[in-house]
Amino acid sequence: LSLNIAVAGKGGSGKTTIASIIIRNLKKRRVGPVLAVDADPNANLGESLGFDVTHTVGTILAEFQRDKAEIPAGMTKEAYLEYRLHGAILETAGLDLVTMGRGEGADCYCYPNVILRKMIEMLSRSYAFVVMDNEAGMEHLSRGTTKDIDELLIVSDHSVKGVRTIARIRTLVSELGLTVKRQSVIINRGPDKMDSAITAEMARLGIKPAAVIPLDRAVFEFDLKMKPLLDMPDTSPAVRAVDGLMSRLLAGEDKVSPGKKEV
Ligand SMILES: Nc1ncnc2c1ncn2[C@@H]1O[C@H](COP(=O)(O)OP(=O)(O)OP(=O)(O)O)[C@@H](O)[C@H]1O
Ligand SMILES: [Mg+2]
Repeated sequence: LSLNIAVAGKGGSGKTTIASIIIRNLKKRRVGPVLAVDADPNANLGESLGFDVTHTVGTILAEFQRDKAEIPAGMTKEAYLEYRLHGAILETAGLDLVTMGRGEGADCYCYPNVILRKMIEMLSRSYAFVVMDNEAGMEHLSRGTTKDIDELLIVSDHSVKGVRTIARIRTLVSELGLTVKRQSVIINRGPDKMDSAITAEMARLGIKPAAVIPLDRAVFEFDLKMKPLLDMPDTSPAVRAVDGLMSRLLAGEDKVSPGKKEV
């Protein structure tokens, strides 16, 4: 069984933080190898997880373009590129990381994006879980890195605008005809009791949050001390909220026949 989890949502809503805590949770549960994917060109998932990221798909592609002449005799260009791209995968016990980064020169990252998608398709068979942190907005959806998702987690802050963004992402997902088995909404930095204006807006849009993650001082302190979120304590409120979410998601997954994807 391989479960692909993608985290999407508005800029600064907490995608990277939540993806990191989900990865922490899966690692602790020992439910099989996890692949963390940073598909945000402004990469920082690796940093949140405590990896020292020196190579990204983007930097390797740029190097490869430069050293084309050095393709070893008897090796095809494709095989050599595949070999080089392995340098973008950082391996630790139970958790590997691949970072997309950006292409060289101009801001375009179409090429790294296409290559990353091929890599995920190939790699995902070797992992029980793939957790992908995406860029803000909806670019990643339209560009196609985020296809064949089992769990699309849409993160929003506790605001009316945030809730409306969730609705827009949902519309885009259906318009693009993406293969998404299940979508869940997460309200991040939410209070114990959500504001009635927000619950009303969610009701109007037919949104029921799967989890509310509280504002957590530990997240803030870990950032200040540049400590990996993998080391957050079990008792931290955000960790506990994500644990609850993951228990529900994984329990729901048991009821779905393994490997069968809805179209
Ligand atoms: N539950 C939380 N409690 C406290 N601080 C939080 C929480 N969630 C996120 N933060 C903080 O809010 C900031 C933004 O979070 P994060 O980087 O995870 O958002 P993002 O959606 O990945 O942003 P971007 O769109 O820039 O990639 C960070 O400084 C993070 O430490
Ligand atoms: Mg982020």
